[in-house]
Amino acid sequence: MNQPVMGGVVAVNAPSFVKNQKLISWVAELAALTKPERIYWCDGSKEEYDRLCSELVAAGTMKKLNPAKRPNSFIAWSDPTDVARVEDRTFICCEKEENAGPTNNWVDPKEMRATMHQLFDGAMRGRTMYVVPFSMGPLGSPIAHIGVEVSDSPYVAVSMRVMTRMGKAVYDVLGTDGEFVPCAHTVGAPLQPGQKDVAWPCNPTKYIVHYPETREIWSFGSGYGGNALLGKKCFALRIASNMGRDQGWLAEHMLILGVEAPAENGKPGAKHYVAAAFPSACGKTNFAMLIPPPSFNGWKVTTIGDDIAWIKPGKDGRLYAINPEAGYFGVAPGTNEQTNPNCMASMEADTIFTNVALTDDGDVWWEGLTKEPPAHLIDWQRKDWTAEEAKKSGRKAAHPNSRFTVAATQNPVLDSAWDDPAGVPISAFIFGGRRSTTVPLVTEARNWVEGVYMAATMGSETTAAATGEQGVVRRDPFAMLPFTGYHMSDYFQHWLTLGKKLEATGAKLPKFYCVNWFRTDEEGKFVWPGFGDNMRVLKWILERIDGKAAGVENIFGTTPAFSDLHWEGIKFSAEQYDRITAINKAEWTEELKLHTELFEKLKHHLPEELEATRQQLEKRLAA
Ligand code: OXD
Ligand code: MN
Repeated sequence: MNQPVMGGVVAVNAPSFVKNQKLISWVAELAALTKPERIYWCDGSKEEYDRLCSELVAAGTMKKLNPAKRPNSFIAWSDPTDVARVEDRTFICCEKEENAGPTNNWVDPKEMRATMHQLFDGAMRGRTMYVVPFSMGPLGSPIAHIGVEVSDSPYVAVSMRVMTRMGKAVYDVLGTDGEFVPCAHTVGAPLQPGQKDVAWPCNPTKYIVHYPETREIWSFGSGYGGNALLGKKCFALRIASNMGRDQGWLAEHMLILGVEAPAENGKPGAKHYVAAAFPSACGKTNFAMLIPPPSFNGWKVTTIGDDIAWIKPGKDGRLYAINPEAGYFGVAPGTNEQTNPNCMASMEADTIFTNVALTDDGDVWWEGLTKEPPAHLIDWQRKDWTAEEAKKSGRKAAHPNSRFTVAATQNPVLDSAWDDPAGVPISAFIFGGRRSTTVPLVTEARNWVEGVYMAATMGSETTAAATGEQGVVRRDPFAMLPFTGYHMSDYFQHWLTLGKKLEATGAKLPKFYCVNWFRTDEEGKFVWPGFGDNMRVLKWILERIDGKAAGVENIFGTTPAFSDLHWEGIKFSAEQYDRITAINKAEWTEELKLHTELFEKLKHHLPEELEATRQQLEKRLAA
C-alpha cells in the first residue's frame, strides 16, 4: 500500500482496476506537484473505512464514541478557525469576469492557476494522497456524473464514503475513457521530516476555486464540510450548475421528498415528489424527514435527499430528479426527538460527528438535544464545559455549525426510489427563506415566471453555516447565492428558458410555492410550530396540484384561507394564522425596494420578464 519514494517522486502505482489513463496521468501530475509521501487509491470497502477511522483516532483527529451508546461512531473536533464554508474565499474562475456575475468572487483563471500552483507545490509533503473516486447519483444513472477527489485528508476520504457512492465500482462506470470532474484538495499543511502532526491540520490561507469551463475544482487550506468534501457544494452545485446550463438541466440546492396520501377504497393514495430550496441551516433535513402529525392518519413522507437535487427533463416533458449525494451532512444543534425523530434514529450508530460536545460517558451532546444539558461536557474546542458556567457566560458546548455525517441508508423513512437511476418526477418546487417578518406562511405562484420571480427575490436571515455576520437579511436567490457557478441573471434566464421549453411539450409543469416557517411575535418567538406541522402546508400544496384545494388570490399569488388548511390536532387560532399570513403594505413596500436593489445589482443580464413581474407587483400593491 505504501509506495516507495523513487528519486523524490512517489510512484503512482494505480491498481489494476483503474483503467482510465486520463485519471492516472492527472493523479501523477498532482503527485509531482504536491509531493506526498505516498499515494493511496481508495476502494470504498468497509475494511478500508474502518482502517482509516482507526488511523484518524490514532492521529487524534477523531475519538471513538462509547460503543454501548453509539456503536461504530466517532467525534471529530476541527481547528477553531476551520468551522464553516468560507464564501469570501470561494472563487469562480471563468475566462470572462462578466460570466461570474456580481454575486461571485472572480479571479482570472491564469492568475489563479499560478497561485494554486504555488500553494499546491509541496503541500502534501509528509502526508498520504488519497484518490477518492465517487459518483454523484446512482451509479450509471443518465442523470449522474462522476468525480475523483484527490485529498491529503483521511477525514475527507472517510466522509466521502458516507456522503457519496464512493469506491471501486465507480472505476467500472468510468471505464477507459469516461469523463470525470477532477477535484484537487489539500489541507495545505505539509510536514517536515520528523515533524509531529496536529489533530486538525489546515492553513490560515484558504481558497475554494472552481474553473467552470474546464470543470475543475481546486481547494486549499480547509478540512471542513463544503470546503473539503468537494462532491457537495463545489461539484454538485457550482460546477454542475454550469453543466446544467450548457446541457439543459438543473443543479439545485434542494431537498427532495415524497408525499403519499392515505389509501382510499383499497387503492393506494396519490404520491407526489416535491423539491424544496432553503438556505443553509434553515431546516432542510428536518423537512425532508418530516413525520406528519397524528391527525394525518395514513399520510407518509419519505426522503429522496436533504440538500441537493439534480433535475433533468424526461422524454415526457416532466422533470426527473435524483439526489446526487448518498449521505447527510446535517446541522446538529436543534436536532432532537421532537424536531426530527427520523434523523435521531439515523444517527444511532455509524455516524461521524464534527464539532459537537462529548459527554462524560462517551456520547455526544449539542444545544437543543435535550432540555437540560449534562452538568459536564468536553466542548467542541476540547475544553471542559459546565452547565453552570454556561448559564452565566452563554458559551456553547457545540459549535452552531457542528454536523453529523451519516449514510442515507440509515434513514428510516428513505424513499424506495431514492437510488432509482431514472429519478423521480417533480410536481412542485418550494422555496423558503428564514424571515421573521413580511413573508407569509405559503404562497402559490400563478405561473412559472412568477414562480421564478419569487425564488429569485427570496431573502433570508444568515446562519452559522457560513462564516460572516449572522441574522442579517440577505437576498439568497433560489437559496443558491453561494452556489451558482455563473452569472445569477443567466441562471434566472436558464430557469425561464427551461420553463418555456417544458410548456411547449404540453406536460403538466411543477407549480411554485414560497413558504416561510419563521415569522415571530413581539417577543421574538416563532408563531408557527413548524417541523411536523409543516405537513399542514404540504397537504394544501398537494391538493392544489391535484386541483382539490381552494385558495385566495392576493397581491403576490394564491394563499390558503384559514379554513383551507387542516387544523385537526393543533390549537392554532385564526388570529395566530393572520399573524403569519398577513401582508403588511409598508413592509412589502420596503421589500420591493430590496428586490429593486437586487435587480440593480444583476441588471446587466437580468431577464426582462423579472423586472416586468416586479412592476406588476408594485402596481398591485399600490392599488
Ligand atoms: C450545507 C450548507 O452544508 O448549505 O448543506 O451549508
Ligand atoms: Mn446545503
